[in-house]
Amino acid sequence: MVTPIDPDFMKNRKVAGKGEGGAYDIRGPVEPPAKLGIHGTAVAVDYDLCIADGACIDACPVNVFDWQETPGHPASTKKARPIREKDCIFCTACESVCPVLCIKITQP
Ligand code: F3S
Ligand code: F3S
Repeated sequence: MVTPIDPDFMKNRKVAGKGEGGAYDIRGPVEPPAKLGIHGTAVAVDYDLCIADGACIDACPVNVFDWQETPGHPASTKKARPIREKDCIFCTACESVCPVLCIKITQP
């Protein structure tokens, strides 16, 4: 059984910080290294569910993601970071291919 990303994360989680260079919001709880929160808003990746499958990175036509190293995280030691969230064209390919359903796309 897979527990997907909370579809109501924008309501249920508070912004706790910013991603690399202020590129996107991070919603907590954030307690590194074991709890890393949800990274991104339009392209939201639940880092605590991501298992570093990588299908999202291969699927994205506009290269929204890169890898972020997350040593010590119990689910995986790297995550698909939505670093270029602002480039998303909302094709939803990433959301469809993630085997653990940890991506939620929301067109603003
Ligand atoms: Fe890429 Fe996913 Fe957007 S595949 S274009 S980040 S919906
Ligand atoms: Fe992670 Fe799912 Fe991508 S497990 S690396 S968000 S396909």
